[in-house]
Amino acid sequence: MVQGMKHPIYLDYNATTPVDPEVAKEMIPYIESFYGNPSSSYSIGRSNREAVEKARAQVAKLINCQADEIYFTSCATESNNLAIKGIAWANSDKGRHIITSAIEHPAVMEVCKYLSSQGFEITWLPVDHSGRIGPKDVENAIRKDTILITIMHANNEVGTIQPISEIGSIARQKNIVFHTDASQSVGKIETDVDKLGVDLLTIAGHKLYAPKGIGALYIRQGTPIENLMHGGGHEKGIRPGTENVIHTVGLGKACEVAMRDFKKNQHNMQVSRDRLLDGLVSQLGNKVHVNGNLGNCLPNTLSVAFENISAHALASFISSDVLISTGSACHSGETTISSVLQAMNLDFRTAAATVRISTGKKTTEEEIDFAVEVLVNAVKKLSL
Ligand SMILES: Cc1ncc(COP(=O)(O)O)c(C=O)c1O
Repeated sequence: MVQGMKHPIYLDYNATTPVDPEVAKEMIPYIESFYGNPSSSYSIGRSNREAVEKARAQVAKLINCQADEIYFTSCATESNNLAIKGIAWANSDKGRHIITSAIEHPAVMEVCKYLSSQGFEITWLPVDHSGRIGPKDVENAIRKDTILITIMHANNEVGTIQPISEIGSIARQKNIVFHTDASQSVGKIETDVDKLGVDLLTIAGHKLYAPKGIGALYIRQGTPIENLMHGGGHEKGIRPGTENVIHTVGLGKACEVAMRDFKKNQHNMQVSRDRLLDGLVSQLGNKVHVNGNLGNCLPNTLSVAFENISAHALASFISSDVLISTGSACHSGETTISSVLQAMNLDFRTAAATVRISTGKKTTEEEIDFAVEVLVNAVKKLSL
Protein backbone atom coordinates (compact mmCIF):
# COMPACT_ATOMS: atom_id res chain seq x y z
CA MET A 1 0.00 0.00 0.00
CA VAL A 2 1.30 3.46 -0.95
CA GLN A 3 2.13 5.66 2.05
CA GLY A 4 -0.39 8.42 2.72
CA MET A 5 -3.16 6.57 0.89
CA LYS A 6 -6.55 6.69 2.63
CA HIS A 7 -7.53 3.37 4.12
CA PRO A 8 -9.84 1.53 3.62
CA ILE A 9 -10.19 2.40 -0.06
CA TYR A 10 -13.70 3.64 -0.77
CA LEU A 11 -15.11 2.26 -4.02
CA ASP A 12 -18.83 2.66 -3.36
CA TYR A 13 -19.45 6.14 -4.79
CA ASN A 14 -22.86 5.10 -6.11
CA ALA A 15 -23.93 4.66 -2.48
CA THR A 16 -22.78 8.13 -1.53
CA THR A 17 -19.93 10.57 -2.06
CA PRO A 18 -17.91 12.61 0.42
CA VAL A 19 -18.65 16.33 0.60
CA ASP A 20 -16.29 18.14 -1.76
CA PRO A 21 -13.97 20.52 0.19
CA GLU A 22 -15.08 23.41 -2.08
CA VAL A 23 -18.69 22.61 -1.21
CA ALA A 24 -17.93 22.43 2.53
CA LYS A 25 -16.13 25.77 2.35
CA GLU A 26 -19.14 27.40 0.71
CA MET A 27 -21.45 26.04 3.41
CA ILE A 28 -19.43 27.08 6.46
CA PRO A 29 -20.54 30.75 6.63
CA TYR A 30 -24.15 29.55 6.58
CA ILE A 31 -23.43 27.14 9.44
CA GLU A 32 -21.46 29.60 11.53
CA SER A 33 -22.93 33.03 10.81
CA PHE A 34 -25.70 33.50 8.27
CA TYR A 35 -28.77 32.20 10.07
CA GLY A 36 -31.50 34.43 8.69
CA ASN A 37 -34.79 33.03 7.43
CA PRO A 38 -34.92 33.56 3.65
CA SER A 39 -38.56 34.67 4.02
CA SER A 40 -37.67 37.53 6.40
CA SER A 41 -37.59 40.96 4.83
CA TYR A 42 -34.64 42.37 6.81
CA SER A 43 -31.07 42.07 5.58
CA ILE A 44 -29.97 38.73 7.13
CA GLY A 45 -33.10 37.16 5.66
CA ARG A 46 -32.64 38.78 2.28
CA SER A 47 -29.02 37.65 1.98
CA ASN A 48 -30.06 34.06 2.66
CA ARG A 49 -32.82 34.37 0.06
CA GLU A 50 -30.11 35.47 -2.38
CA ALA A 51 -27.99 32.45 -1.41
CA VAL A 52 -30.90 30.06 -2.08
CA GLU A 53 -31.63 31.72 -5.42
CA LYS A 54 -27.96 31.58 -6.41
CA ALA A 55 -27.98 27.84 -5.66
CA ARG A 56 -31.15 27.40 -7.70
CA ALA A 57 -29.42 29.01 -10.68
CA GLN A 58 -26.33 26.81 -10.20
CA VAL A 59 -28.43 23.64 -10.20
CA ALA A 60 -30.44 24.83 -13.19
CA LYS A 61 -27.30 25.53 -15.21
CA LEU A 62 -26.04 21.98 -14.79
CA ILE A 63 -29.19 20.46 -16.28
CA ASN A 64 -29.92 23.33 -18.70
CA CYS A 65 -33.24 24.59 -17.38
CA GLN A 66 -34.60 27.85 -15.96
CA ALA A 67 -33.85 28.54 -12.30
CA ASP A 68 -37.56 28.75 -11.47
CA GLU A 69 -38.00 25.18 -12.69
CA ILE A 70 -35.87 23.86 -9.79
CA TYR A 71 -37.55 22.90 -6.48
CA PHE A 72 -35.40 21.98 -3.50
CA THR A 73 -36.31 18.89 -1.50
CA SER A 74 -34.67 16.84 1.25
CA CYS A 75 -33.46 13.95 -0.94
CA ALA A 76 -34.00 12.02 -4.14
CA THR A 77 -36.63 9.87 -2.47
CA GLU A 78 -38.68 12.97 -1.73
CA SER A 79 -38.16 14.31 -5.25
CA ASN A 80 -39.38 11.01 -6.72
CA ASN A 81 -42.41 10.97 -4.40
CA LEU A 82 -43.28 14.54 -5.30
CA ALA A 83 -42.86 13.88 -9.01
CA ILE A 84 -44.80 10.64 -9.22
CA LYS A 85 -47.57 11.19 -6.68
CA GLY A 86 -47.78 14.86 -7.59
CA ILE A 87 -48.37 14.07 -11.28
CA ALA A 88 -50.69 11.18 -10.43
CA TRP A 89 -52.93 13.30 -8.16
CA ALA A 90 -52.94 16.25 -10.56
CA ASN A 91 -54.00 14.10 -13.53
CA SER A 92 -56.21 11.42 -11.98
CA ASP A 93 -59.28 12.82 -13.72
CA LYS A 94 -57.56 12.20 -17.10
CA GLY A 95 -56.39 8.67 -16.40
CA ARG A 96 -54.85 6.35 -13.84
CA HIS A 97 -52.21 4.45 -15.82
CA ILE A 98 -48.49 4.86 -15.12
CA ILE A 99 -45.57 3.27 -17.00
CA THR A 100 -42.34 2.45 -15.19
CA SER A 101 -39.66 -0.23 -15.31
CA ALA A 102 -38.68 -3.32 -13.37
CA ILE A 103 -35.26 -1.91 -12.47
CA GLU A 104 -36.20 1.32 -10.68
CA HIS A 105 -34.79 2.21 -7.28
CA PRO A 106 -37.21 1.53 -4.39
CA ALA A 107 -37.69 5.33 -4.26
CA VAL A 108 -39.70 4.94 -7.49
CA MET A 109 -40.82 1.34 -7.24
CA GLU A 110 -42.44 1.69 -3.82
CA VAL A 111 -44.18 4.92 -4.83
CA CYS A 112 -45.70 3.13 -7.83
CA LYS A 113 -46.73 0.18 -5.65
CA TYR A 114 -48.38 2.61 -3.24
CA LEU A 115 -50.24 4.28 -6.10
CA SER A 116 -51.37 0.89 -7.32
CA SER A 117 -53.00 0.41 -3.89
CA GLN A 118 -54.78 3.75 -4.49
CA GLY A 119 -56.47 2.70 -7.72
CA PHE A 120 -53.72 3.48 -10.24
CA GLU A 121 -52.61 0.84 -12.71
CA ILE A 122 -48.88 0.35 -13.19
CA THR A 123 -47.13 -1.22 -16.18
CA TRP A 124 -43.71 -2.57 -15.18
CA LEU A 125 -41.58 -2.71 -18.32
CA PRO A 126 -39.00 -5.49 -18.63
CA VAL A 127 -35.33 -4.95 -19.48
CA ASP A 128 -32.95 -6.89 -21.70
CA HIS A 129 -29.95 -8.84 -20.41
CA SER A 130 -27.90 -5.63 -20.15
CA GLY A 131 -30.60 -3.90 -18.08
CA ARG A 132 -31.87 -1.67 -20.89
CA ILE A 133 -35.49 -0.75 -21.51
CA GLY A 134 -36.68 -0.82 -25.12
CA PRO A 135 -38.28 2.45 -26.34
CA LYS A 136 -40.65 0.32 -28.45
CA ASP A 137 -41.86 -1.41 -25.28
CA VAL A 138 -42.62 2.02 -23.82
CA GLU A 139 -44.54 3.01 -26.93
CA ASN A 140 -46.53 -0.24 -26.94
CA ALA A 141 -47.43 0.18 -23.27
CA ILE A 142 -49.01 3.60 -23.78
CA ARG A 143 -52.79 3.67 -23.42
CA LYS A 144 -55.45 6.35 -23.66
CA ASP A 145 -55.43 6.70 -19.88
CA THR A 146 -51.61 6.85 -19.46
CA ILE A 147 -50.73 9.95 -17.45
CA LEU A 148 -47.07 9.40 -16.57
CA ILE A 149 -43.94 7.59 -17.70
CA THR A 150 -41.23 7.33 -15.04
CA ILE A 151 -37.97 5.66 -16.08
CA MET A 152 -34.60 6.10 -14.40
CA HIS A 153 -31.75 7.70 -16.34
CA ALA A 154 -29.02 5.34 -15.16
CA ASN A 155 -29.24 2.34 -12.92
CA ASN A 156 -27.60 2.48 -9.50
CA GLU A 157 -26.54 -1.20 -9.39
CA VAL A 158 -25.26 -1.96 -12.88
CA GLY A 159 -24.90 1.55 -14.32
CA THR A 160 -26.95 0.87 -17.47
CA ILE A 161 -27.98 4.11 -19.19
CA GLN A 162 -31.55 4.16 -20.46
CA PRO A 163 -32.57 5.58 -23.87
CA ILE A 164 -34.19 8.58 -22.21
CA SER A 165 -34.18 10.94 -25.22
CA GLU A 166 -35.87 8.30 -27.40
CA ILE A 167 -38.48 7.70 -24.71
CA GLY A 168 -38.77 11.48 -24.30
CA SER A 169 -39.69 11.89 -27.98
CA ILE A 170 -42.36 9.21 -27.66
CA ALA A 171 -43.77 10.84 -24.52
CA ARG A 172 -43.82 14.23 -26.23
CA GLN A 173 -45.59 12.86 -29.33
CA LYS A 174 -48.24 11.24 -27.16
CA ASN A 175 -48.47 14.22 -24.81
CA ILE A 176 -47.62 12.21 -21.69
CA VAL A 177 -45.68 13.63 -18.75
CA PHE A 178 -42.21 12.06 -18.49
CA HIS A 179 -40.14 11.85 -15.29
CA THR A 180 -36.63 10.48 -14.90
CA ASP A 181 -34.78 9.65 -11.71
CA ALA A 182 -31.33 11.01 -12.52
CA SER A 183 -29.91 10.46 -9.02
CA GLN A 184 -27.03 8.41 -10.40
CA SER A 185 -26.38 10.25 -13.64
CA VAL A 186 -26.14 13.94 -12.68
CA GLY A 187 -22.46 14.90 -12.72
CA LYS A 188 -21.42 11.62 -14.37
CA ILE A 189 -23.01 11.92 -17.82
CA GLU A 190 -24.80 14.73 -19.63
CA THR A 191 -28.20 15.54 -18.09
CA ASP A 192 -29.63 18.29 -20.30
CA VAL A 193 -33.40 18.23 -19.72
CA ASP A 194 -34.16 19.44 -23.25
CA LYS A 195 -31.96 16.85 -24.94
CA LEU A 196 -33.45 14.18 -22.68
CA GLY A 197 -36.97 15.43 -23.38
CA VAL A 198 -38.10 15.08 -19.77
CA ASP A 199 -40.70 17.09 -17.85
CA LEU A 200 -39.39 16.17 -14.40
CA LEU A 201 -35.93 15.12 -13.26
CA THR A 202 -34.73 14.02 -9.82
CA ILE A 203 -31.38 15.12 -8.39
CA ALA A 204 -29.70 13.61 -5.29
CA GLY A 205 -27.22 15.92 -3.57
CA HIS A 206 -25.14 13.29 -1.84
CA LYS A 207 -24.40 11.40 -5.05
CA LEU A 208 -22.61 14.44 -6.44
CA TYR A 209 -20.42 15.59 -3.57
CA ALA A 210 -23.04 17.72 -1.77
CA PRO A 211 -24.14 16.66 1.73
CA LYS A 212 -26.85 14.14 2.52
CA GLY A 213 -30.27 15.65 3.21
CA ILE A 214 -30.68 17.78 0.10
CA GLY A 215 -32.19 17.00 -3.27
CA ALA A 216 -33.95 18.81 -6.06
CA LEU A 217 -36.70 18.22 -8.54
CA TYR A 218 -36.79 19.84 -11.95
CA ILE A 219 -40.38 20.53 -13.04
CA ARG A 220 -40.80 21.86 -16.57
CA GLN A 221 -42.81 25.07 -16.62
CA GLY A 222 -46.51 24.43 -17.15
CA THR A 223 -46.47 20.85 -15.83
CA PRO A 224 -49.50 20.43 -13.57
CA ILE A 225 -48.49 18.95 -10.23
CA GLU A 226 -50.06 18.56 -6.78
CA ASN A 227 -47.90 19.19 -3.73
CA LEU A 228 -47.51 16.43 -1.14
CA MET A 229 -47.04 18.73 1.84
CA HIS A 230 -49.16 21.71 2.72
CA GLY A 231 -47.91 24.75 4.56
CA GLY A 232 -46.36 28.09 3.68
CA GLY A 233 -45.56 29.37 0.24
CA HIS A 234 -41.96 28.12 0.05
CA GLU A 235 -40.81 26.74 -3.28
CA LYS A 236 -43.90 28.33 -4.82
CA GLY A 237 -46.06 26.31 -2.43
CA ILE A 238 -45.02 23.07 -4.15
CA ARG A 239 -42.67 22.14 -1.31
CA PRO A 240 -43.45 24.21 1.76
CA GLY A 241 -41.14 24.41 4.78
CA THR A 242 -38.39 26.89 5.64
CA GLU A 243 -35.51 26.34 3.23
CA ASN A 244 -32.50 24.26 4.26
CA VAL A 245 -30.18 27.13 3.36
CA ILE A 246 -26.93 25.42 4.43
CA HIS A 247 -27.44 22.31 2.34
CA THR A 248 -29.02 24.20 -0.53
CA VAL A 249 -25.90 26.35 -0.80
CA GLY A 250 -23.89 23.10 -0.76
CA LEU A 251 -25.94 21.56 -3.57
CA GLY A 252 -25.59 24.71 -5.65
CA LYS A 253 -21.82 24.71 -5.27
CA ALA A 254 -21.64 20.96 -5.97
CA CYS A 255 -23.48 21.51 -9.25
CA GLU A 256 -21.20 24.38 -10.21
CA VAL A 257 -18.12 22.23 -9.50
CA ALA A 258 -19.64 19.24 -11.32
CA MET A 259 -20.21 21.38 -14.39
CA ARG A 260 -16.78 23.02 -14.28
CA ASP A 261 -14.92 19.70 -13.84
CA PHE A 262 -17.31 17.52 -15.83
CA LYS A 263 -14.90 16.25 -18.53
CA LYS A 264 -12.01 15.76 -16.09
CA ASN A 265 -14.17 13.89 -13.56
CA GLN A 266 -15.84 11.74 -16.16
CA HIS A 267 -12.45 10.80 -17.59
CA ASN A 268 -10.99 9.96 -14.19
CA MET A 269 -13.97 7.85 -13.13
CA GLN A 270 -13.85 5.88 -16.36
CA VAL A 271 -10.08 5.42 -16.46
CA SER A 272 -10.19 4.17 -12.85
CA ARG A 273 -13.07 1.81 -13.53
CA ASP A 274 -11.39 0.42 -16.65
CA ARG A 275 -8.02 0.02 -14.90
CA LEU A 276 -9.76 -1.93 -12.17
CA LEU A 277 -11.45 -4.25 -14.64
CA ASP A 278 -8.25 -4.74 -16.66
CA GLY A 279 -6.38 -5.59 -13.46
CA LEU A 280 -9.01 -8.12 -12.41
CA VAL A 281 -9.26 -9.76 -15.83
CA SER A 282 -5.51 -9.95 -16.31
CA GLN A 283 -5.13 -11.90 -13.05
CA LEU A 284 -8.39 -13.81 -12.78
CA GLY A 285 -9.21 -14.35 -16.47
CA ASN A 286 -12.58 -15.93 -17.13
CA LYS A 287 -13.44 -16.10 -13.43
CA VAL A 288 -14.61 -12.49 -13.97
CA HIS A 289 -18.07 -11.91 -15.40
CA VAL A 290 -19.18 -8.33 -16.18
CA ASN A 291 -22.92 -7.66 -15.88
CA GLY A 292 -24.53 -5.20 -18.27
CA ASN A 293 -22.80 -3.57 -21.20
CA LEU A 294 -19.84 -1.30 -20.53
CA GLY A 295 -20.47 0.44 -23.85
CA ASN A 296 -23.70 1.86 -22.41
CA CYS A 297 -22.87 2.33 -18.78
CA LEU A 298 -22.11 5.06 -16.24
CA PRO A 299 -18.38 5.78 -16.49
CA ASN A 300 -17.75 4.88 -12.84
CA THR A 301 -19.76 1.70 -12.37
CA LEU A 302 -18.69 -1.92 -12.57
CA SER A 303 -21.10 -4.71 -11.75
CA VAL A 304 -19.03 -7.84 -11.68
CA ALA A 305 -19.41 -11.45 -10.55
CA PHE A 306 -16.51 -13.71 -9.58
CA GLU A 307 -17.14 -17.34 -10.43
CA ASN A 308 -18.08 -19.52 -7.47
CA ILE A 309 -17.68 -16.70 -4.97
CA SER A 310 -20.30 -15.43 -2.56
CA ALA A 311 -20.49 -11.65 -3.02
CA HIS A 312 -21.28 -11.24 0.68
CA ALA A 313 -18.32 -13.33 1.76
CA LEU A 314 -16.08 -11.33 -0.59
CA ALA A 315 -17.31 -7.86 0.42
CA SER A 316 -17.06 -8.67 4.09
CA PHE A 317 -13.65 -10.40 3.71
CA ILE A 318 -12.08 -7.30 2.15
CA SER A 319 -14.00 -4.66 4.13
CA SER A 320 -11.05 -3.58 6.26
CA ASP A 321 -9.16 -2.73 3.04
CA VAL A 322 -11.70 -1.96 0.30
CA LEU A 323 -15.36 -0.90 0.54
CA ILE A 324 -17.75 -2.18 -2.12
CA SER A 325 -21.38 -3.30 -2.17
CA THR A 326 -23.21 -6.45 -3.24
CA GLY A 327 -26.05 -7.15 -5.64
CA SER A 328 -27.92 -9.29 -3.20
CA ALA A 329 -29.11 -9.14 0.39
CA CYS A 330 -28.23 -11.76 2.95
CA HIS A 331 -30.54 -12.28 5.94
CA SER A 332 -30.21 -15.22 8.33
CA GLY A 333 -28.15 -17.17 5.84
CA GLU A 334 -30.69 -16.68 3.01
CA THR A 335 -29.55 -14.83 -0.10
CA THR A 336 -32.09 -12.64 -1.90
CA ILE A 337 -31.15 -11.41 -5.34
CA SER A 338 -31.76 -7.74 -6.13
CA SER A 339 -34.78 -6.97 -8.28
CA VAL A 340 -32.45 -5.35 -10.85
CA LEU A 341 -30.35 -8.48 -11.37
CA GLN A 342 -33.52 -10.59 -11.42
CA ALA A 343 -35.06 -8.36 -14.08
CA MET A 344 -31.87 -8.76 -16.14
CA ASN A 345 -32.44 -12.52 -15.96
CA LEU A 346 -29.13 -13.23 -14.32
CA ASP A 347 -28.90 -16.80 -13.07
CA PHE A 348 -28.93 -17.15 -9.28
CA ARG A 349 -25.25 -18.13 -8.97
CA THR A 350 -24.02 -15.13 -10.97
CA ALA A 351 -26.33 -12.73 -9.13
CA ALA A 352 -25.27 -14.08 -5.73
CA ALA A 353 -21.65 -13.57 -6.81
CA THR A 354 -22.19 -9.99 -7.99
CA VAL A 355 -20.53 -6.99 -6.42
CA ARG A 356 -20.87 -3.35 -7.38
CA ILE A 357 -17.67 -1.34 -7.53
CA SER A 358 -18.05 2.38 -8.22
CA THR A 359 -15.22 4.86 -8.59
CA GLY A 360 -15.18 8.56 -7.74
CA LYS A 361 -13.83 11.72 -9.28
CA LYS A 362 -10.74 11.62 -7.06
CA THR A 363 -10.05 7.87 -7.19
CA THR A 364 -6.34 7.36 -7.84
CA GLU A 365 -4.32 4.76 -9.75
CA GLU A 366 -2.72 3.71 -6.48
CA GLU A 367 -6.09 3.08 -4.90
CA ILE A 368 -7.18 1.01 -7.88
CA ASP A 369 -3.98 -1.04 -7.95
CA PHE A 370 -4.32 -1.73 -4.24
CA ALA A 371 -7.99 -2.67 -4.66
CA VAL A 372 -7.11 -5.07 -7.49
CA GLU A 373 -4.48 -6.75 -5.34
CA VAL A 374 -6.92 -7.10 -2.42
CA LEU A 375 -9.75 -8.39 -4.60
CA VAL A 376 -7.58 -10.88 -6.49
CA ASN A 377 -6.11 -12.29 -3.27
CA ALA A 378 -9.55 -12.54 -1.69
CA VAL A 379 -11.09 -14.28 -4.71
CA LYS A 380 -8.21 -16.76 -4.80
CA LYS A 381 -8.50 -17.46 -1.06
CA LEU A 382 -12.28 -17.77 -1.07
CA SER A 383 -12.33 -20.11 -4.05
CA LEU A 384 -9.89 -22.59 -2.49
C1 LIG B 1 -31.32 5.78 -8.62
C2 LIG B 1 -31.58 6.23 -7.22
N1 LIG B 1 -32.73 6.84 -6.94
C3 LIG B 1 -33.03 7.27 -5.71
C4 LIG B 1 -32.15 7.07 -4.67
C5 LIG B 1 -32.55 7.52 -3.30
O1 LIG B 1 -31.69 8.49 -2.81
P1 LIG B 1 -31.91 9.08 -1.34
O2 LIG B 1 -31.80 7.89 -0.41
O3 LIG B 1 -30.80 10.03 -1.17
O4 LIG B 1 -33.22 9.67 -1.27
C6 LIG B 1 -30.94 6.43 -4.91
C7 LIG B 1 -29.98 6.15 -3.82
O5 LIG B 1 -29.23 5.20 -3.85
C8 LIG B 1 -30.64 6.00 -6.22
O6 LIG B 1 -29.50 5.38 -6.52
